[in-house]
Amino acid sequence: MKVHILLGPPGSGKGTQAKRLVEKFKLNHLSTGDILRDAVSKGTEIGLRAKAIMASGKLVDDDTVNGLVFARLRQGFEGDVLFDGYPRTLQQAEALGEFLSTQLIGLGYVLSVAVPDGALEARVVGRRVCSNNDCGAIYHMETKPPKQDGICDLCGSPLKHRSDDTAEAFRSRMAEFNATFQPLLGFYERKPNFRSVDGNLAPEQVFESLVQLFAESA
Ligand code: AP5
Ligand code: MG
Repeated sequence: MKVHILLGPPGSGKGTQAKRLVEKFKLNHLSTGDILRDAVSKGTEIGLRAKAIMASGKLVDDDTVNGLVFARLRQGFEGDVLFDGYPRTLQQAEALGEFLSTQLIGLGYVLSVAVPDGALEARVVGRRVCSNNDCGAIYHMETKPPKQDGICDLCGSPLKHRSDDTAEAFRSRMAEFNATFQPLLGFYERKPNFRSVDGNLAPEQVFESLVQLFAESA
C-alpha cells in the first residue's frame, strides 16, 4: 500500500479528479473535507467543534485532522490511498511523513493541481454537491449542471450548496491556503514523485494529465 496526495487551492478540482482517478486506478479516496463534513452532519464531538470553523473557511486544527487520518490508515486499506485536501499544512505533512515511516507505508505521487486565483471563486460559488454522502457527485450551475434541476444525475438525491461555498468563506479559505501552501510545497517539491499539473484546463484534459502520471508508476 502507498499513499498519493492531491494538493491544490479551494475549487482547483481535487474532488472532481479524485473521484475519476479512484475509479480508474482502484484507489481509496480519503478526503479530509468529506470526513469532517460527515462528522458535522452526524453531530459527533469533532463535528460539533469543526462546524463553525469550516463554515467560516478556517482550517480545523492539525491534531484533530491528523488523528482522523491516522485512525483511518490504521484500519488498513486494500490498495493505494489517494488523499484529497490532506496534508494542508507543513505540520500535517511532517506528521504524516513520520506516521508513514513508522508504519512502513510508502509515499507515491504528490500531485499539485495549479489554478490561477482568479478562476477559483466562480467555481466554488457555483458548485453544487450531491447530498448523499455515499455519492457526493460534484456539479456546477454553469459549467456542469445536472440534467434535472437540483437533482443528482447519478443517484437521484437532492443537490446542496456547501455552507463554505459563499464568496465570503471562499476568501477566508484562500487566505488560509495562501498562508500555508508555500511551506507545504517546499516540503514536497523536492520529493522525487512530486508533479505539478495545469488545473486551468477542461476537467477532461486535467484528468488525462493525471492519468499519464499514474500510468507511469504502474
Ligand atoms: P475541502 O473539502 O478539502 O475543501 P477545499 O480544499 O477548499 O477544496 P474544495 O472541495 O472546495 O475544492 P476541490 O479542489 O475539491 O474542487 P472540486 O473538484 O469540488 O475542505 C473544506 C474545509 O474542511 C476546509 O476549509 C477546512 O475547514 C476543513 N479541512 C479539510 N481538510 C483539512 C485539513 N487537512 N486540515 C485542516 N482543515 C481541513 O471543483 C470545484 C468546482 O469547480 C465544481 O463545481 C467543479 O464542477 C468545478 N471544476 C472542477 N474542475 C474544473 C475545471 N478543470 N474547470 C472548470 N471547472 C472545474
Ligand atoms: Mg473537494
